[in-house]
Amino acid sequence: MTEDYQRRDVNFTTIHATNEKHFDIFFEILEIKEGDHLLDVGGGYGELALEFFKRDKDKNYHYILLDPSEFQINKGKNFIQKTTSDYFYKNRVSFIHNDFLNFKTDEKYDHIILKMVLQYFTLEEQLLVLKKAKSLLSEKGKITIWRPFLKDYVSDFFSFVILKKDELAYFNQMKNKIYFSSEKEFNDLLLEAGMLKNNVNIEPTFVFEYLLDTSARFHPEFKGNINLYEKWLSLIEKEYLLTDKKTKEIVKLLKTKNGFIINFQRAIYKF
Ligand SMILES: C[S@@+](CC[C@H](N)C(=O)[O-])C[C@H]1O[C@@H](n2cnc3c(N)ncnc32)[C@H](O)[C@@H]1O
Repeated sequence: MTEDYQRRDVNFTTIHATNEKHFDIFFEILEIKEGDHLLDVGGGYGELALEFFKRDKDKNYHYILLDPSEFQINKGKNFIQKTTSDYFYKNRVSFIHNDFLNFKTDEKYDHIILKMVLQYFTLEEQLLVLKKAKSLLSEKGKITIWRPFLKDYVSDFFSFVILKKDELAYFNQMKNKIYFSSEKEFNDLLLEAGMLKNNVNIEPTFVFEYLLDTSARFHPEFKGNINLYEKWLSLIEKEYLLTDKKTKEIVKLLKTKNGFIINFQRAIYKF
């Protein structure tokens, strides 16, 4: 996994099709207070640090980026230094180069963020990640999770699209390990981790469209290899035809001159 992330040099804003509004929503949900300590698990190159900086320059809180990939951490150091201020970089940010499950600390955090990262653990590990995150919370601490919204009808098709990309773009470790838990599985994990009161089903705090634009993956992930990219498109198209009526009613695949745009969704949860 870490090996793939040693060379996965992508801009997450582009490939995850995020914009300012998504981050406005995310920060509304997070509700960061003066003095808070935030742990961004699998924070990649620290995209969130810049978004914090843009919104809350004057709030005195601490952002801690944890990632097992040295490449992402180094990219993060350069990125945050370049895009924020000297003061912010030196005083508000720190980096932990570690795998979350191996990470040992006596610290407690007011926010633990898992943004597009839970899928990098097996289903069994996802339970350990949730339990561990819970154990690292301060008294008022909260866990905020940003993940694909995978209702039954879309779960298999979404996994197919992403895992085929990883296979064809030679992200073999990712392909072999990534596991997108469905909403049902996620709910069961939360129950087992003791994160749901009275066994009620969890509702996301917010759900929004994720317009997967295949062409945004052409250069960063397929390195411009047209044969592999076209193979990916043809497999997606075949798989889409095989999906059931309900999936086709909700998930639309639009052909554009450079590929497909597919309307998946993302959800933000807070515990
Ligand atoms: C899709 S990226 C998301 C990055 C960032 N959270 C964002 O949304 O911009 C997934 C990140 O998870 C990290 N990751 C993979 N396995 C991990 C683990 N065992 N512990 C912590 N982070 C991990 C990867 O190195 C990568 O930076």
